[in-house]
Amino acid sequence: MLHVLDHPLIKHKLTQMRQKDTGTKDFRQNLDEIAGLMAYEITRDVPTQKVSIVTPVAPCETEELAKEIVLVPILRAGLGMVNGIRNLVPTAKVGHVGLYRDEETLEPHEYYAKFPSNLPEAVVFVLDPMLATGGSASAAITIVKQRGAKMVKLICLVGAPEGVQRIVEDHPDVDIYLAALDEKLNEHGYIVPGLGDAGDRIFGTK
Ligand code: PRP
Ligand code: URA
Repeated sequence: MLHVLDHPLIKHKLTQMRQKDTGTKDFRQNLDEIAGLMAYEITRDVPTQKVSIVTPVAPCETEELAKEIVLVPILRAGLGMVNGIRNLVPTAKVGHVGLYRDEETLEPHEYYAKFPSNLPEAVVFVLDPMLATGGSASAAITIVKQRGAKMVKLICLVGAPEGVQRIVEDHPDVDIYLAALDEKLNEHGYIVPGLGDAGDRIFGTK
């Protein structure tokens, strides 16, 4: 299922990120802030369990998270979403999947994978700002599922219809969260209007 989180603050910050003259520092800061805002909505259906505690005033029955959360950024650009979410969920463990997209074929290539041992029991958030053809996100989800993940959500900033379609076909059990659903891909596989190359803009490599 696709969720587009079109909150005014998210829209405003994403507009700043999209502008070609926005530099690395502001790009990263806005990404961090949007990831935090998205985390609030994405965690809405994480299960809770009853717990008995004692406040300074009285004992009470209340609730706490019943499942651990694992963040899996797709390297590199997904790294830019980790801190914003971790600020809200500081106990979240972090796995990593390294994928790069071949510029000619647009096929993803895996170069790194490492996960915490609680992956099978956790709610797993796969993070990547860009969902273009969907090849990278689909591969990352396959990798975490092969390592035992059962409850997976995909969190991206900007998506193309082609990428959404790919995830729906390959992983119908995975909820997709976007800050914006854009128009299309261009002939180089870039999202239009998009925001350019997210990894290069986060790390200043171009
Ligand atoms: C970008 C982006 C996604 C992928 C999206 O990464 O961060 O991972 O492309 O494209 P897709 O949906 O068509 O697979 P890139 O391969 O440029 O690597 P980088 O993050 O290291 O820059
Ligand atoms: N990867 C990016 O960083 N941007 C796009 O528009 C497509 C893939």
